[in-house]
Amino acid sequence: MKFNIMTLFPDMIKQGLGSSIIGKAQEKNLIEIDTINIRDYAYNKHKQVDDYPYGGGAGMVMQPEPIYEAYKSITSKLSNKPRVIYLTPQGKTFNQEMAMELSKEEELIFLCGHYEGIDERVIDMIVTDEVSIGDYILTGGELAVMVMIDAISRLIPDVLSNGVSATTESFDDNLLEYPQYTRPAVFMDKKVPDILLSGHHKNIDQWRREQSLIRTYNKRPDLLEKAELSEKDKKILDKYCKL
Ligand code: ADE
Repeated sequence: MKFNIMTLFPDMIKQGLGSSIIGKAQEKNLIEIDTINIRDYAYNKHKQVDDYPYGGGAGMVMQPEPIYEAYKSITSKLSNKPRVIYLTPQGKTFNQEMAMELSKEEELIFLCGHYEGIDERVIDMIVTDEVSIGDYILTGGELAVMVMIDAISRLIPDVLSNGVSATTESFDDNLLEYPQYTRPAVFMDKKVPDILLSGHHKNIDQWRREQSLIRTYNKRPDLLEKAELSEKDKKILDKYCKL
């Protein structure tokens, strides 16, 4: 998967995604992250990329030409036009389902805005998807794109060394993850649940399923409505709810 990011702050992206699992995934060529500095496509000698808004008002607006040129520098070499995702609080809210859908693409382009926004004409011309990472306003799209790339990349085969964990963690089946424990078996008088030390895998799986259901019921009951529950799951929840 190749991620192209049009931004005014390429160093922020390179640093943010350069270490840990996403950094290793790049080293192993499982993913490629290319930053395109919009300022390199500025039309004037001062390298200015923003201007006052027509009609007045506060703040500056990013001009269309440098963004369009930056976009062309990516797509002129490509036969298929990748989706262009503009990070904006006005977009569709990012979630695990969207991460899964996007992880199937071969190449994506992201556009990070700054200042008061981007000239609407270039948005109309190049953007295919508008995405928000939540109902709050960031100073720019860079942190949002990093969140998206992290969530998408971990779904790409071999990015996580343990192939199981990408699919068993929270949200894939609309259930939260069961609690995890490691050594020591007793920490400040608190014991790890006996069942996890029993070595009885069937019972452990059953206990974990129960814990997932109960946790989801307690912390995110909204998710339960979307979860696929077996008759056994429903019985567990019924029993728990009556307690
Ligand atoms: N840019 C500013 N705020 C944002 C948000 N919440 N999500 C995505 N991009 C943004």
